Amino acid sequence: MREFVVMTFATVGLFAAAAWYAPVDAQQGDAKPNPHNLPATSLGDRLDDRLDDRLDDDTLGSRGRTGHPSIAASPGFAHASVANNPAVRDAKPVGQAVCMACHTLESKSFAHTTHALGMNVALAASPTTPTCEACHGPGAAHAKNPTARGLIIAFTHDGGTPVETQTASCLACHAGGARDQWLGSVHRRNQLSCSDCHNPMAQSSAEGLQAKRSINETCATCHQDIRQQFNRRSHMPLPEGQMACVDCHNPHGSINAVLLKTDTVNETCYQCHAEKRGPFLFEHAPVRESCLSCHTPHGSNQHALLVAPIPMLCQQCHSHVRHPNDMPNEQQLASGLAPDERVMGRGCLTCHAQIHGSNHPAGPRLHK
Ligand code: HEC
Ligand code: HEC
Ligand code: HEC
Ligand code: HEC
Ligand code: HEC
Ligand code: HEC
Ligand code: HEC
Ligand code: HEC
Ligand code: HEC
Ligand code: HEC
Repeated sequence: MREFVVMTFATVGLFAAAAWYAPVDAQQGDAKPNPHNLPATSLGDRLDDRLDDRLDDDTLGSRGRTGHPSIAASPGFAHASVANNPAVRDAKPVGQAVCMACHTLESKSFAHTTHALGMNVALAASPTTPTCEACHGPGAAHAKNPTARGLIIAFTHDGGTPVETQTASCLACHAGGARDQWLGSVHRRNQLSCSDCHNPMAQSSAEGLQAKRSINETCATCHQDIRQQFNRRSHMPLPEGQMACVDCHNPHGSINAVLLKTDTVNETCYQCHAEKRGPFLFEHAPVRESCLSCHTPHGSNQHALLVAPIPMLCQQCHSHVRHPNDMPNEQQLASGLAPDERVMGRGCLTCHAQIHGSNHPAGPRLHK
């Protein structure tokens, strides 16, 4: 964009020079013969060569040649069509060479991304394949009048393009799969655009074209409260980088409450804590019902992600059973005259150790 002032006065020659400068060799659309005779979208050796060329100095860092396992097989880029921008129904596509002449900087960072690598292979094979315009819509009107809002599909909240048009552009290739439930999802209902979490213009994350360096940082741009709960005394190893929000949530939508990936909370937890699934000879009813009866998923200042300290946790449901386990009085506390062993140390768990269920023939009271 900074080039605009210069570029307004640009000659055709300058356009060509800028286009040459952009680090993509196929942008003129003059389909070079594919040296390996590969089908259009197979990234094969050409992609590898490109990655190798760039690996020295770019953000791909140590991802290496195997960094894009999925694109090699994808037919997506060859069948691309120009995105539909209802605001400029009659505009014609202009091709990426024209976009790049004015948007040199953006094009340079874009050149390292999954889309650029795949799209340029498709373009080389078939010179009419849209690239920039597969996402941004036809560019003729915008190229004539770049400062008018809405003439190009802009993925910013003040860019003049309705969110619906933005997401439709991406969904033209990415509908279905993980995005099956996008339509009803809480994020869509709250007017999020794909670009709130993804920035396809730069390879800022190792994978998934996240807007921030990692998935967790991307989510934390809006869900800071949740991210902070993971800083509490007990938490699963998400801040340590071993887990991500998407281990449990599908940000694109799900058929369940709170975007959970599985049918129930327990199914989510069993994915990693399979031993808690049982089967148990003696079940503890609340465990079967929901792990959240006692645990909180994002972090707790109690031991083991518990929602309340023991014995209070147990006493929420158990009182006046065979041995009294209602709230102890002052005398019975550890500091009292006649300390009650049930509230010492780990309280109830000292005896009822198999709190998630027991397989011991003598375990109906969850002792062993
Ligand atoms: C003649 C130069 C020129 C050409 C050609 C051009 N643009 Fe632009 N584009 C601009 C300028 C200048 C702006 C900044 C407008 C502003 O900030 O008001 C811009 C803005 C944009 C934006 C951001 C809009 C926003 O408000 O966030 C996008 C996206 C964009 N251009 C994409 C493209 C694409 C894709 C092409 C090719 C189809 C293209 N441009 C061709 C000059 C150009
Ligand atoms: C896969 C879809 C896709 C393709 C292909 C694509 N863009 Fe973008 N572009 C986006 C999204 C999404 C954004 C908004 C990024 C953000 O949130 O900052 C964007 C932003 C921009 C902007 C605004 C400035 C910025 O970086 O935020 C310009 C200019 C632009 N693109 C130009 C281009 C040009 C030129 C090409 C082709 C070389 C291109 N885009 C290809 C999706 C795409
Ligand atoms: C012309 C078709 C097309 C369009 C339009 C398109 N994509 Fe893609 N995209 C692909 C293909 C093909 C792949 C690689 C195969 C795959 O992962 O499905 C891909 C990959 C991705 C990936 C995974 C990248 C990685 O490194 O793992 C993300 C995220 C993505 N696209 C987001 C978007 C967003 C956001 C938009 C809209 C701004 C968009 N795409 C528009 C075809 C497209
Ligand atoms: C709230 C954040 C968020 C929004 C909004 C979002 N995504 Fe994603 N997307 C993610 C995250 C996080 C991942 C990584 C998922 C993973 O690794 O399991 C991802 C992965 C992807 C992938 C690659 C893996 C796959 O599922 O094929 C594609 C493609 C994709 N998103 C496209 C889109 C499109 C298109 C939209 C808009 C309709 C969109 N996303 C909206 C967060 C989001
Ligand atoms: C651009 C802001 C934004 C980003 C980024 C974002 N979210 Fe959200 N998210 C929202 C809004 C807005 C809501 C709905 C309001 C609310 O319940 O707080 C929401 C709601 C949710 C909900 C609750 C759903 C429900 O039914 O109550 C979950 C779970 C969620 N987001 C997970 C994620 C994950 C995981 C990520 C990262 C992949 C993410 N979000 C990224 C804005 C965002
Ligand atoms: C171990 C699985 C797991 C992980 C990891 C996880 N969540 Fe959750 N999340 C849940 C469960 C289960 C609920 C439902 C909580 C409830 O119903 O009380 C939930 C609820 C939510 C909600 C809505 C309810 C609330 O508490 O406000 C949001 C928003 C949310 N998660 C965002 C995130 C974000 C952002 C991350 C990553 C920083 C994340 N979650 C990581 C399992 C997880
Ligand atoms: C993606 C895998 C994964 C999922 C899904 C998952 N956990 Fe975990 N959980 C872990 C890991 C890893 C640890 C740490 C284990 C360790 O440090 O030995 C952990 C630890 C825990 C701990 C012990 C924490 C402590 O401070 O001692 C509890 C309690 C727990 N998880 C409950 C849950 C619940 C409840 C759910 C479902 C909402 C769930 N987990 C889902 C991976 C997962
Ligand atoms: C009735 C309350 C209760 C319910 C319901 C419950 N837990 Fe626990 N959980 C506890 C207590 C108490 C501890 C601490 C045990 C200790 O310190 O020895 C604990 C500890 C854990 C731990 C860490 C220690 C270990 O045993 O591995 C994990 C993991 C765990 N729970 C997972 C789950 C999962 C998964 C569910 C749902 C299937 C669940 N819990 C349901 C009470 C409960
Ligand atoms: C959300 C409620 C709830 C919480 C919290 C809870 N329990 Fe339970 N517990 C139950 C229910 C319901 C039963 C089944 C009672 C029955 O079958 O009559 C049960 C059964 C038991 C039993 C077996 C007794 C029997 O009659 O079979 C023991 C022992 C027990 N719980 C101990 C504990 C301890 C110790 C804690 C705290 C770590 C705890 N419970 C927390 C609801 C709860
Ligand atoms: C010193 C060991 C010990 C401690 C500590 C202890 N219990 Fe027990 N509890 C027992 C024994 C033994 C039984 C079995 C009594 C029987 O079957 O007659 C029992 C039985 C139970 C039962 C089943 C009662 C019934 O009516 O069948 C529940 C519920 C229970 N305990 C809850 C708790 C709670 C809650 C705490 C913590 C406040 C706790 N216990 C602390 C030893 C203990």
